[in-house]
Amino acid sequence: MALVLGRSGFMATWVVLLLGSLHAQTSAPGKGNGAGEVYSPSLEARVQSLLQTMTLDEKVGQLVQYSAGQPTGPGTGRGDYKEMISRGEVGSFLNVVEPREINEYQRIAMEKSRLHIPLLFGLDVIHGFKTEFPIPLGLASTWDPGIVEKVSRAAAIEASADGIRWTFSPMVDIARDARWGRMAEGAGEDPFLGAAMAAAYVRGYQGSRLNAPDSIAACAKHYVGYGAAEGGRDYNTTEISEHTLREFYLPPFHSAVEGGVASLMSAFNSLNAVPASANSFTLKQVLRKEWGFRGLVVSDWSAVGELVAHGIAMDEEAAARKGFAAGVDMDMTSSLYHDHLAKLVASGVVKQSDVDEAVRHVLRVKFALGLFEHPYVDEEAARNALYHPEALAVAAKAAESSLVLLKNDMGAGGKPVLPLSQPVGTLALIGPLGENPSPADPNEPKGLRISLADALAQQVGADHVLRFAGSGILDGTDQEIAAAVAGARKSDLVILALGEDPDMSGEAASRTHLGLPGRQRELLDAIVQTGKPVVLVLFSGRPLTLPGAFEKVGAVIAAWFPGIATGPALVRTLFGDLNPSGKLVVSWPRNVGQEPLYYNALSTGRPPGNADLAHAPANADERYLSRYIDEQNSPQFPFGYGRSYTTFAYGPTKTNHRSLSASALNLSLRDKTKKMIRIESDITNTGSRSGEEVVQLYIGLRGTSTAQPVRALKGFQRIPLAPGETKTVGFDLPAEAFAIWNDRNEFAVEPAKVSVWMSPDSAHGAAVELAIVQ
Ligand code: BGC
Repeated sequence: MALVLGRSGFMATWVVLLLGSLHAQTSAPGKGNGAGEVYSPSLEARVQSLLQTMTLDEKVGQLVQYSAGQPTGPGTGRGDYKEMISRGEVGSFLNVVEPREINEYQRIAMEKSRLHIPLLFGLDVIHGFKTEFPIPLGLASTWDPGIVEKVSRAAAIEASADGIRWTFSPMVDIARDARWGRMAEGAGEDPFLGAAMAAAYVRGYQGSRLNAPDSIAACAKHYVGYGAAEGGRDYNTTEISEHTLREFYLPPFHSAVEGGVASLMSAFNSLNAVPASANSFTLKQVLRKEWGFRGLVVSDWSAVGELVAHGIAMDEEAAARKGFAAGVDMDMTSSLYHDHLAKLVASGVVKQSDVDEAVRHVLRVKFALGLFEHPYVDEEAARNALYHPEALAVAAKAAESSLVLLKNDMGAGGKPVLPLSQPVGTLALIGPLGENPSPADPNEPKGLRISLADALAQQVGADHVLRFAGSGILDGTDQEIAAAVAGARKSDLVILALGEDPDMSGEAASRTHLGLPGRQRELLDAIVQTGKPVVLVLFSGRPLTLPGAFEKVGAVIAAWFPGIATGPALVRTLFGDLNPSGKLVVSWPRNVGQEPLYYNALSTGRPPGNADLAHAPANADERYLSRYIDEQNSPQFPFGYGRSYTTFAYGPTKTNHRSLSASALNLSLRDKTKKMIRIESDITNTGSRSGEEVVQLYIGLRGTSTAQPVRALKGFQRIPLAPGETKTVGFDLPAEAFAIWNDRNEFAVEPAKVSVWMSPDSAHGAAVELAIVQ
């Protein structure tokens, strides 16, 4: 270990990261180990005794959060946050990131406020604190909860060293519409994969115990339905039936809760006409009563205040009342709890006992984090904890596993275009994304962030790489395009680095055009015209539609935004030092008009003839009457899809039962450890390279009381295979895999015909049929 770190906790964790797996990996959702549970009987006694000493104003103070980075609330502009803290009127801050400043505020809370209750400092640590990992959509494309756990562990070590003990991550919103820019921040369209990723993030952030100095509280957001914004327009209204909510949108949140997540964030959107931040059905009935959540619910930024704009509150007092009554414990930045809650209690509108309960939720998290014992950050520690070699190694591994090879045609000489083999002759790197797409943190040590351009030059020698921007991301000139075309003509092969600016996805970054922005499509077409072999590397926070272009280029890699290790990860992949193994977690549309597009759509009434066709694993596009007259139904690339430099063959799917009993399954429904059936298939590496295959298990159900998805993911495993090697890959499914939200509004297993199959993506495979009988 080269670096001696400031605190033993950091040292211990970096060593664990180094050694490999942090926790046993699981591909089943909701099987978190209860990482860092916020509730324990001994802490509860401390919460209770502190609560008894608090005045009403002090209690309200714990329910108030302000942003110091972007000042909000009564402290704004008047510099009196400090006085507010000393009066016990602030429970938490977000966006305070300097250890010195954190300690300064904390010292006031600990020394000047009457009860010495520590502040909780939160931040959006989304894909790394300082070391930048791939965006969450890329992380999910690894289909590797183990790497996601390591990424979030590394992020937690860095953030906590800086005094941040709470992250507003993971975003576990299901995203079915690539117009919605926040697709970039989540794990895609599937609830099973989303649930596995949610649990992995929680394990990583919270560690094995929350009061370890390098653990941070996670926050599953945005509860709930935020990703279903109509038209993909961020913040827009959502209409989600209870069936769809229960089967698709809630499972990743449930998994986070079962994994012991410390907090949830209530969303901006209106959900079936009741804003999510005033929605007692989701916040109280589902979250507290059904799931038994004992942690903290914070609103999204000013979401309590926005209840007025939603039109369900006449004024700010009503907004405070409605948000609080629905179950939002902490008001992020709108300051309405600060302004109104005590008055509402005094007038009898809000019950004191309800305020006590909300304060309990906040104090539990603060006690569980050990903040009362260790409120301060070691101002020196951060220096040594950031950009640690182990974090960089995790960033490299994550970037490498996140790349999805979408296409790899046969090139000249009867060999696939990729991997490139030396000597490659002269390469032309063309496109505005060849340099680092996102600016580095000003304190990032030089030399850590290697762009595609630099990594290519290192690989083949600078004299062998011709570099042309060809255009900007959003603009470009005829001269730039012409220069790039002339450069391409002089080369033996073109690597085109095209895509979106990182700011074109994320919050408030919805698009109606999903094509390449600016003049990049024109650039692509002009380069293709030269007849040179082209490898297209796409950088984006969502799938991009390129009608006709995928057919024209030799190979395509979806890179997303891979983070600090972008260049080396891509170059190692391009040159075959590693074999790509990422797979899509969203259906890649041909055309924006197909959106929302998702593989696990419900069966409809008009597959002609045989209803069973709807459940055929192979793409049944032509058989549907429900289709466009001007575009296919199928995606450009299906969910789960991703190629490798080797090939894998799947043997027939086999099961140890052809018939299951619904009543037996229902009896074990809550027991995820009890396995009810084994599904197996022999997978062979039929190519000449080692590779990793993400083996996927899908099921389809017929005869149930509610319509079910034509296919639904119920398991996945990453399997390394040497050339020629065969492995039997097995899944042991719990009863839950067959449960549905039925017409009596409950989760249950019903008698059904079941198709089950293992396959490399959501559009292939040969099913075996089973029956679930009464
Ligand atoms: C976003 C949240 C984020 C919060 C705090 C909001 O605008 O929707 O995802 O956690 O700001 O930065």
